[in-house]
Amino acid sequence: MNSNIITIDGPSGGGKSTVSQMLATHLHYTYLDTGAMYRAVGIKIIRSKIDENDQEALNQLLTDIDLRLSTDDSGTKVFIDNDDVSQAIRTAEMGMVASRVSAIPAVRRTLTTLQQEMGQQGKIVAEGRDMGTVVFPNAPHKFYLDATAEERARRRHLQLQEKGEASDYQNLLQQIIKRDHDDSSRDLAPLKAADDAIIIDSSTMDAEAVVRFMLDRINAC
Ligand code: DC
Repeated sequence: MNSNIITIDGPSGGGKSTVSQMLATHLHYTYLDTGAMYRAVGIKIIRSKIDENDQEALNQLLTDIDLRLSTDDSGTKVFIDNDDVSQAIRTAEMGMVASRVSAIPAVRRTLTTLQQEMGQQGKIVAEGRDMGTVVFPNAPHKFYLDATAEERARRRHLQLQEKGEASDYQNLLQQIIKRDHDDSSRDLAPLKAADDAIIIDSSTMDAEAVVRFMLDRINAC
C-alpha cells in the first residue's frame, strides 16, 4: 500500500483541485477529492435533519451512508444514495458546513477508513487537509500548496465574477480566514503540512507552473 500515492494538502482556495486534477490526468492516476466527501457528509446530515451532536443518530447515518465518487476529465461527481449532489455541495455555505462536520471524530474515522480503502489500488492523487499527515502518512510524494489569504480571496472573487455571480471580496476574505482558522486549530487531523511535505507557495505561480514543479520533484525521486 501507499506506492504511487501523491498527497496534496493545503488551505481552501489555494488551487489544490485544479492542480490535483491536472497532475492526475498527466500521470493517468485517479484523482481523489476528499473535500467533496466531507461536503457530501455535511449535506447528508443537513438533509436528514439530525442533530449532529446526537452520537447515536450520527453513527447510524454514517453506517448507512451510500457515498460514491466518480471522476472524469470534467471533475468529480458525488452521489449520495444514488442522488447526484455534485452541484449542491459546491456552495460556500456547504464549505463551511463541511469544515464544521469534519471536526467530528466519528465523521473523520469513517471517511479516513473509506479514503484508505480507495487508496489501496494505488496510483492516486489524494487532495485534502490531512492526506500526507494522517490518511497516507507513508505516501512517497507529499505536497502542501499554500497561497496568501488575500490572493486566494482575489482568485475566488474573479471566478465568481466571471460566472456572473454576486461576490464581495471582503466577505470572501473573512470566510477564507475563518475556514483556515477552524481547519487548522481543530484537535483531530488539523490542516498542516506533513514534516516531509514539499511546501509550495502558489501566490505568484499559475497552475501549469505548479504542476511542472511537482512533476520535476516526482521525477527526481
Ligand atoms: O477542500 P474543500 O474546500 O472541498 O473541503 C471542505 C472542508 O472539508 C474543509 O474546510 C475541511 C474539510 N476537509 C477536511 O477536514 N479534511 C480533508 N481531507 C478534506 C476536507
